[in-house]
Amino acid sequence: MTTSPMQGIGTDTPRIDGRRKVTGTARYGADMPVNSPAYGFLRTSSIARGRITGINDTEARGLGGVLEIFTYKNVGDRIKPGKFFANQGYMGSSIVPLADDRIWHDGQIVALVIAETFETARDAAHRLVITYDEEKPSAGFDSPGSETVAAADASKYHHDPSVGDEDSAFAASPVKLSLRYSTPTQHHNPIELFSTTCAWNAERLTVWESSQNVYGFRFGLAEQLGVDPGNVHVISPFIGGAFGSRGSLTQRTALVAFAARQLQRPVKLVVSRDQGFTTATYRAETRHQIRLGAQRDGSLVSLRHEGWEVTSRPDPHMVAGTDTTTRLYDCHNIASRVSIVHADRSTPGFMRSPPELPYLFALESAMDELALQLNMDPVELRRINDTKKEPIKGLPYTSRSLLSCFDAAATEFDWVKRRHHHRRPGSITEGDWLIGLGCAATMYPTAMGPAAVRVVLLPDASVKVQTAAHDVGTGAYTAIALTVADRLGVPVNHIAVEIGDSDLPPAPAAGVSNTTASVCNAVAKACAQIRSRIASAAAKDRQGRFAGRNPATLSLGRQTLRDGSGREEPLTQAIARASNGALEAYAENIPHGVKPNAMGKLYRGIQTLAGGGDLDDRIQFAFGAEFVEVRVHKLTREIRVPRIVGAFAAGRIVNPRTAESQLSGGLIWGISSALHEATEIDERAARFVNADLAEYMIPVNADIGSVKVIMVPEKDDQVNPLGIKGLGELANVGTNAAVCNALFHATGKRIRDLPIRLEKLLET
Ligand code: MOS
Repeated sequence: MTTSPMQGIGTDTPRIDGRRKVTGTARYGADMPVNSPAYGFLRTSSIARGRITGINDTEARGLGGVLEIFTYKNVGDRIKPGKFFANQGYMGSSIVPLADDRIWHDGQIVALVIAETFETARDAAHRLVITYDEEKPSAGFDSPGSETVAAADASKYHHDPSVGDEDSAFAASPVKLSLRYSTPTQHHNPIELFSTTCAWNAERLTVWESSQNVYGFRFGLAEQLGVDPGNVHVISPFIGGAFGSRGSLTQRTALVAFAARQLQRPVKLVVSRDQGFTTATYRAETRHQIRLGAQRDGSLVSLRHEGWEVTSRPDPHMVAGTDTTTRLYDCHNIASRVSIVHADRSTPGFMRSPPELPYLFALESAMDELALQLNMDPVELRRINDTKKEPIKGLPYTSRSLLSCFDAAATEFDWVKRRHHHRRPGSITEGDWLIGLGCAATMYPTAMGPAAVRVVLLPDASVKVQTAAHDVGTGAYTAIALTVADRLGVPVNHIAVEIGDSDLPPAPAAGVSNTTASVCNAVAKACAQIRSRIASAAAKDRQGRFAGRNPATLSLGRQTLRDGSGREEPLTQAIARASNGALEAYAENIPHGVKPNAMGKLYRGIQTLAGGGDLDDRIQFAFGAEFVEVRVHKLTREIRVPRIVGAFAAGRIVNPRTAESQLSGGLIWGISSALHEATEIDERAARFVNADLAEYMIPVNADIGSVKVIMVPEKDDQVNPLGIKGLGELANVGTNAAVCNALFHATGKRIRDLPIRLEKLLET
């Protein structure tokens, strides 16, 4: 007997962790009550390149309550470098700040002060007198001394996708276009500041830090500290925003652990907002050259995409979005090349939709420019160049609903008016406002990694699920609970989900929007084991009502076990028959395209994700289309975005509520990346100058008008058994181009360098 409605995959469900978050009982890294903590504060470098020549700590040490000051002089090689993640390591940067006197970038950690209170530590950190021998730094592109290297030379994992003969095809094309675009440096700025709490209990280290990769952190720290990974426990149940910034281990964590060991006391460190700009990762600025050749009917003859990205001196970081942009449209002659530019900067990293956001901005802007040159509707241009096979290897998409998304969004947006009456830029006005309508496409890889889970069905028919997955705010807790509810017939409020803990069975890092697909498929497997044990026990029980039945005809639903003819018994009774206590199942899921040894690697914290464009037999992506209305004031050039519509197809939607929240958040971030966000760099000092939330522009409510998300139904039974594609990073891709395209339609002015600032519209 049950009164709760059947919940499962596809049921609109509030977050199961929502109440804890809004009532303040969810604890984050810095909130953890530990016994008698000491407090740390970082001091960071004021130069970008050179050496430390002196550290005078007399005044700092003279403050009452200062416990220790760690610098390169007393740390040195006692913390090991750790490998950069791109070389199968765990680190977001190979720069080891307190290894020696060398300064690699502005804002590098040069000291960690530990004191009895946070205030004393901060005071002492500011009283350190540090002198440098400064060399002239290279800030980025075009700076003397920066060094450009082809991505293919920098990394054995990088290949530049190409097919056919782009050069000759372009030369012979009747319609040609060749344009440059650029995107700025951006910082994630999660609202939860970067923080770490470490405590040792004899040999065992516990780390409370918001992390997208608890296993990776555990093994990476063990390597850096020279301890047994079995003695490192990383706990991260809640994450106050991540967006890629907490995926790789940064240098502060080992420092805090080291300090706690030296002092024999728990240590807490909260990194200030400005220090977070240089001690964690960020999205590097990019440049693009796009060259398109087309027939007069709009079909693409050739496509060339060259990209340049800034990175640090030592690390070959790259996002290389040409993997995606060369696979969006039908085209037989494609060339691409990515280069990285080493400068005196901290190592960049991954930020929401790392490759796609900048690279699709370039391609989707260029497609709009091509449509204009052809005097063609931009939606029509996408239709003409649609394909069911990716052009590089000719592999089929598992599913591709790009045009359904364009159609759904166009209808909702009432695009037909622009198509028929308002094609020319500047053709719609209202009082002093110029109105523009624009659109763009998005695509995002469906990647999956191996995952292990434990599901325990307790005698009272409540469930516990355990896996070291992460909820970066996306709703992973709820997606996991819904999968269990779906498969075991238990209501969501009877399901406890435990994640974000390196003592649990391993799950992939929360990156490339893989968590729901990777973890829920493993959860479904574990639930299937439990179901079949319950059904077999029922069929074997001669006294029971299902005696002698084929177990395959028995199913779980609404806290009952039942057969095809509607006979049922309470789930608790069925559990009691199958077990003396709880029913426990452990399951591993190894997705298509992932080598069988990937599970072993995952148990050592090494990530193996497969999908998107890197499979041998097929290609798997989610798609979408974004339509934007922009208003520009004739006189002041004030820019407003009153309306945005996005339609997306991402396979089966596990929780429509959190999916919509991810997608609308993505659209807002897309507007932000077009109009607001940029980290400004002082070229002379290679320094980020707006390293705070007051001057790093982000949209507020007043900047965002109506946001409409449409989820286009899509069934894909190839991607994985549950048919789930990732969507966390889908909606902020392309949106920046849609805004620029709408802005052009309003004003006739094409902005190819983000962000769009009012002054760029005033330039003539
Ligand atoms: Mo995401 S930037 O792949 O964490």
